[in-house]
Amino acid sequence: MASHNTQSTRKLNVWEEQNYGLHGIHRVIRSSTQIVIETSPKMVGHSHLNHWLKYVETYIRLIGEHHRHEDEIFFPAFTSKGIDMSSYEEDHVDLHKILEAFTSDMKSLAKGNLSYDASFARRVEDYATRIKEFLFPHLAREEELATMEVWMRFSESEIADIKKKLTAMLQSEDPFTSLPFTLYHLTPEAREIMVYESMPWLVRRVLVPFLFVARHSGAWKFASEYRDGSV
Ligand SMILES: [Fe+2]
Repeated sequence: MASHNTQSTRKLNVWEEQNYGLHGIHRVIRSSTQIVIETSPKMVGHSHLNHWLKYVETYIRLIGEHHRHEDEIFFPAFTSKGIDMSSYEEDHVDLHKILEAFTSDMKSLAKGNLSYDASFARRVEDYATRIKEFLFPHLAREEELATMEVWMRFSESEIADIKKKLTAMLQSEDPFTSLPFTLYHLTPEAREIMVYESMPWLVRRVLVPFLFVARHSGAWKFASEYRDGSV
């Protein structure tokens, strides 16, 4: 049996926390992209199709929101430290074209103009594959760029400001979709560090488990860290 006590439980400092968060959300995007690619063909005629479509819809939403966080908070912060972020911004513009086409197909499906048959399933798979081909190298480039050396260029109060802006943006987003989606793709340890540590007790212990994850609970079963569903 693996011991749970051998790892250091040292709390991350504020710079390490930012770095951890970046890698963590990228892992969420990578694993969910893979899930969309692999699962979409299996859902034709499936009784959980509506749950699956909510999962896919949230997947698209999450990537859009993550890019908004980067475009509006992280990229300007990096630019202020003399780093040229223009190629990363251009990547987001290109990627959004794929996300828009994907969203438009999902809307046609919701309106009943298309049905989830083998051909639609292939479209979903194709979109997620295009996202993968484009986005995974982009995520890797961001991770190569955002080394601890770069994070350490920010003062503690600058990092606190980034965190404050990110928290405000996250709180302005729908708590019934991206939040549970993210939680169910994070390991318990990553949930703690990236989400729960900065949440008030009531939100973490009551609103998250009994309200926020509950509305679309069927959708989160597709997530990589769903396990028994407890958060
Ligand atoms: Fe990005």
